[in-house]
Amino acid sequence: MSHPSLSPLLPRLREELFEFLRIPSISARREHKDDTRAAAVWLRDRLERAGMAAEILETPGHPVVLGEWQEAGPEAPTLLIYGHYDVQPAEPLELWTAPPFEPSVRDGRIYARGVADDKGQVFLHVAALEILLSQGPLPVNVIFLAEGEEEIGSPHLLPFVERHRERLAADAVIISDSAMFAEGLPSLLFSLRGLAYTEIRVRGPRSDLHSGAYGGAVPNPATELARILASLHDAGGRIQIPGFYDDVVEWDEETLEGIRTLPFSPEAFREGVGAPGLHGETGWTPLEQLWVRPTCEVNGLLSGYTGEGAKTVLPSEAMAKVSFRLVPDQDPKRVVALLRDHVAQVASPHVSVEVEELHSGHPWRARPGGPFFEAAREALEATFGVEPVLTGEGGSIPIVPEFERILGAPAVLLGFALPGSNMHAPDEWFPEAHLEKGIQTLLSFYTSLRS
Ligand code: BES
Ligand code: ZN
Repeated sequence: MSHPSLSPLLPRLREELFEFLRIPSISARREHKDDTRAAAVWLRDRLERAGMAAEILETPGHPVVLGEWQEAGPEAPTLLIYGHYDVQPAEPLELWTAPPFEPSVRDGRIYARGVADDKGQVFLHVAALEILLSQGPLPVNVIFLAEGEEEIGSPHLLPFVERHRERLAADAVIISDSAMFAEGLPSLLFSLRGLAYTEIRVRGPRSDLHSGAYGGAVPNPATELARILASLHDAGGRIQIPGFYDDVVEWDEETLEGIRTLPFSPEAFREGVGAPGLHGETGWTPLEQLWVRPTCEVNGLLSGYTGEGAKTVLPSEAMAKVSFRLVPDQDPKRVVALLRDHVAQVASPHVSVEVEELHSGHPWRARPGGPFFEAAREALEATFGVEPVLTGEGGSIPIVPEFERILGAPAVLLGFALPGSNMHAPDEWFPEAHLEKGIQTLLSFYTSLRS
C-alpha cells in the first residue's frame, strides 16, 4: 500500500523533528538533566497527539516514555517499538559547522546532534504511527518505549523491563537506531556487539613529583599504565588476555559468506575515516573485524602534564578508559574478571592498580526470518527498490538481547541513517530524503502486518 498523502505533511513533520532536535538531551551531563526530561515530555506529548495513550515513567535516572495503542485486540500481534531520546555530548563544539542543537540543512543532509542517533529515527516511527492512526485503526497493537539513558549504557532499563514485563509483552521488538549498509542499499541487522567498559587507574607516589629529583627511583604510573595497555594486544592485533576468546563461538558459514558478498571496498572505507592505514586482527577482513570479532580499545588516557610546553613531572596517577566489544557468547562480567586477572599479572608490584567496571551489555545475534523480519524486508524493498542486505553492526544497543530474553520476542533492527553519519561525532547528519523514505517504509511495514 502506498501513501501518496505523505509529501504535503513533510514540511510540518520536519519542523517538528527540528523542535525535538533543539532540546539538548545529553544524558551524560548533570547540567542537562532538565533538558533530558524536556525531551521525554516532548515525546510523550507528541505520542499523545499521534493518538496513543502516553506517559512518563520514572526510573532512578532519566525517565522512560511509554506510549500504547492496544485497540487491535488480543488476537492481533503486539509490537514493541524501542528507541532513545537521549544524545551524546556534542563536544568538541568547534568542529561543528553549525551549532549541534540548531538543526541545519546542507546538501540534502539534516545536521544536528541526535538526528541519526536516535531522535530522528524515533521520530520516523512517531510520524508513521500518527499518519496511520489518523486513517483508522492499526492492524497491530503498539507499545512505544523510548529511554533516556541509552548513551550511558542503559543503567536503569533492565530492571524497568523486568518490572514491567507483562505490560511490555510483545511479539516483536522493532528498532531503528542503526544505519543502512550504503546509500540506496537498506539493511537488516543480524548482530550487535556487546560491550564491557572499564577504567584502569594506576597510582604511584602520593602527589606529583619533580621528575629529576625523584625519577629513576620512584615508579612512574604513566609508564606502568603504558606497559599494561601495551600488553593487551599482540602485534597481529589479537587480544592477549588469557581466556578472552574462550567463549567466542564460530560463526556459521552462511553468515560469513553473506559478509563476503557485500559490496565493500577497504580502500574507500580507509579513505572515509581518513586514516593513513587500516589495522585489525590478522586473518579477518575489515567487515569481519567490525562485526564478528571482539575488540579491545583504549577510549581515553590521562596522566601527567599535557598543557603547553614542557613540565618535568613524575605523575602521581595515570588513568585509561578501556572497553571491549564482545561477540556471542562472551559475557561482559567474565571479560572484566579476566582483565582484572591479567592486569594483576602484568602490573608492577610497586604501583597500585584498580580496574573499575563502568557499564556493560551482552552481544546480540539474530535468527533472521519470521513474519516481522520478512515484513521489514518487504517494506524496505518496496521503498528503496532493492532487496535489503543482512549486515552485522559493530556498535552496541545493550537492551536488545535483554528484550529478547525477558519478553521472548525477536528483535528486528532496521536503521535509516547512512554510513559516515557521524554518530557521536561533530556534524552528525541524517539524509533529508530518508525522512520521507523512512516514514514510507514504516507505513508499509505496519500496514503489511494486517493478518
Ligand atoms: N545507535 C548506537 C548504536 C549503533 C552505533 C548502531 C553505530 C549503528 C552504528 C547507540 O546509540 C550507541 O551508540 N550505543 C553505544 C552503547 C553504549 C553507550 C553502551 C555504543 O555502541 O557505544
Ligand atoms: Zn549512540
